[in-house]
Amino acid sequence: MSENSPSYKNILVSRLSNSKGLMVGMIQLNRPDVLNALNIETMGELLNALEAFDKDKEIGCMLITGNQKAFAAGADIKEMASQSAIDMYIRDQFATWDKIRKIKKPIIAAASGFVLGGGCELTLTCDIIVAAESTKFGQPEIKLGVIPGAGGTQRLTRAIGKAKAMEMILTGRMYTAKEMFDAGMVSRVVDDEVYLEEAQALAKEIASMPVLALQMAKESVLKSFDTTIEGGLEFERKCFYLLFASEDMKEGMNAFIEKRKPNWKGK
Ligand code: CAA
Repeated sequence: MSENSPSYKNILVSRLSNSKGLMVGMIQLNRPDVLNALNIETMGELLNALEAFDKDKEIGCMLITGNQKAFAAGADIKEMASQSAIDMYIRDQFATWDKIRKIKKPIIAAASGFVLGGGCELTLTCDIIVAAESTKFGQPEIKLGVIPGAGGTQRLTRAIGKAKAMEMILTGRMYTAKEMFDAGMVSRVVDDEVYLEEAQALAKEIASMPVLALQMAKESVLKSFDTTIEGGLEFERKCFYLLFASEDMKEGMNAFIEKRKPNWKGK
């Protein structure tokens, strides 16, 4: 079901429902003429759409995709080229990305074609990356005289380790989906013809889970990147205990004992 808001110029927004009627919020980056280059307006629209889905009780999971040729070939170089350091500082262009990181529900990236620079960083801001076999990943900013600015040096390093991240960032080379799968960044590589269907199936499966547990699971996994093991374990335990206050916890355990399917309420 398409429901694109007329106010969006650079993205297409729709909903996919699974067999239980629970929904996936899908966002397609839609600037094909410039390989989905992420200009400021596109990032603003993406954030708006994600925040709307995050608040929407019918939505359990989000999916971001591009087209066969490009998920996104990076930040918009033509928009950035004439900016001064002070323009960048005042505009704080990458503040949008911090807000995307605060989205509570899981986000899946369905990657294909070029996934470069900010495009690669956007997939790293998502929670799971499903990639078409011919996808090309890279952080080519070094070739423009800059470095990744939307989290690449940090998230990529945490995802694939120092040596491989250094190689990618210092050479600006492109890498295959299989290489990124082997490196641990991509969770699944699938045939080009079916990557979107596979990503959608995964998103629908996740959307059928109880949303509070989804959110706390996501928050707890992300916590592991910026805390000690002690702090992380403590955080996980508090989330685990907190879920015992939810109706869905009672429903999930009762459904198991009564040998029936659970009926989630999202509270
Ligand atoms: N910004 C703006 N426009 C872009 C773009 C980008 N990142 N990437 C591609 N385009 C535009 C091209 O300028 C071209 O437009 P015109 O037809 O008007 O010339 C159109 O998209 C098609 O691109 P190409 O003709 O270059 O297509 P190709 O198939 O020959 O090459 C490519 C594809 C190798 C991806 C090449 O387009 C390319 O190298 N793009 C730039 C990749 C890049 O450097 N990304 C990093 C950006 S900086 C960044 O992302 C900073 C950050 O950390 C957030």
